[in-house]
Amino acid sequence: MHKNKIYQKSLKDLNTFSIDVTAKKIIFVRSIQSLINICKTCNLSNIPYIILGEGSNVLFLENYKGIVIINRIKGIKVKEQINAWLLHVYSGEKWNDLVKYTLRMGFFGLENLALIPGCLGSAAIQNIGAYGLEFKNICQYVDIISLENSKIIRIKKDLCKFSYRDSIFKYKYKDKYAVLAVGIKIYKKWNPIIFKALLKNINITEVNPYKIYNSICQIRKKKLPNVNKLGNAGSFFKNPIISKKKAKKILSLYINIPHYLQIDGSIKISAAWLIEKYNFNNIQIGDAAIYKKQKLILINRKKAHPKEILKLAEIIQKSILKKFKIWLEPEIDFINAMGRIKLLKNI
Ligand code: FAD
Ligand code: EPU
Repeated sequence: MHKNKIYQKSLKDLNTFSIDVTAKKIIFVRSIQSLINICKTCNLSNIPYIILGEGSNVLFLENYKGIVIINRIKGIKVKEQINAWLLHVYSGEKWNDLVKYTLRMGFFGLENLALIPGCLGSAAIQNIGAYGLEFKNICQYVDIISLENSKIIRIKKDLCKFSYRDSIFKYKYKDKYAVLAVGIKIYKKWNPIIFKALLKNINITEVNPYKIYNSICQIRKKKLPNVNKLGNAGSFFKNPIISKKKAKKILSLYINIPHYLQIDGSIKISAAWLIEKYNFNNIQIGDAAIYKKQKLILINRKKAHPKEILKLAEIIQKSILKKFKIWLEPEIDFINAMGRIKLLKNI
């Protein structure tokens, strides 16, 4: 069995925003028992701790006073049913590694979620989504562990309260729980999810899972910044979901806003379009800026201080509220010296 490695170094390479802060200790965890032991020690000594996957959806605001646990609990178990493959995947597996594994194995259906950074644990917490597919569409269950009494609980999909970038793991099962593993069901009968941008790249008659995967990788590489070169955490804000009445009003003024009808009749509006339309004119606060090719992404050009990123986000929020009467809610998690905190809340 691997021993846990203990580092006393910066978190810079462990968060995709590339924020140069430190933690009291950084521990890579490779087994459930190690996770339990570390959390037990922290609980007894009142030391704060936080679990990270790839740090691709967080903004550290300052040095962290506790232990950062990097989850590398890995493993994929496969069971075959007559019409489907059932996968039990541990939460420290990288999401895109799983997508590639399923393609190699001939299990098709995850390809629309190609190239999303992060691990399986956060994929469930965040209900990741892209190009017509969300994690909830393929999830069967999520296994969590109580970090107080080590009890493992299986939460069936219907009880996970999945919605747009949201789940029960952000509320009821937060802080004193960790996501341990997820259950995924992939039907043998493949139903391609086709979206507009894909048709520009592929001929519909020649569509297959590998082509969709490659095409999405191509689109994403073109549109999104490479985290190894430019610090970012993907979309900084969520796309706002507003009432039909409010949408009608705003769409009468701005007919081109990309918008999407939701099942309950509300309307999702493109936040990137609102930011683009506002025209922030190459705004930059220190080293924090808006990514030119995708305006929903805030970037760390080199050595941005988290306060600069926050300031920029706040300016965007206030300006969009003033012009469009729409509040942009952050998609990412903010972490201060003691743990996750709520910031840039609705006013
Ligand atoms: P982290 O940032 O490490 O953690 C996120 C939060 O979850 C933290 O609060 C952390 O404490 C908590 N956490 C992590 N693991 C566990 C665990 N096992 N148990 C309990 N709590 C845990 N998202 C999309 O949905 N769609 C996209 O298309 C997309 N594109 C992106 C593109 C880029 C370039 C980037 C940088 C990000 C993108 N994202 C996208 C956002 C991000 O990839 C996802 O939110 C991803 O699921 C985060 O995974 P992570 O492992 O890096 O989470
Ligand atoms: N647009 C602009 N300006 C821009 C970018 C986009 O006007 O700078 C407009 C375009 O009309 C475009 C539309 O907005 O057609 C939608 O843009 P895009 O396809 O890039 O999607 P998005 O709504 O900005 C969401 C997710 C992404 C996900 C893509 C693809 C959120 C907050 N973001 O972005 O997820 O990859 O759809 O499905 O829902 C993330 O969550 O971190 C993330 C990157």
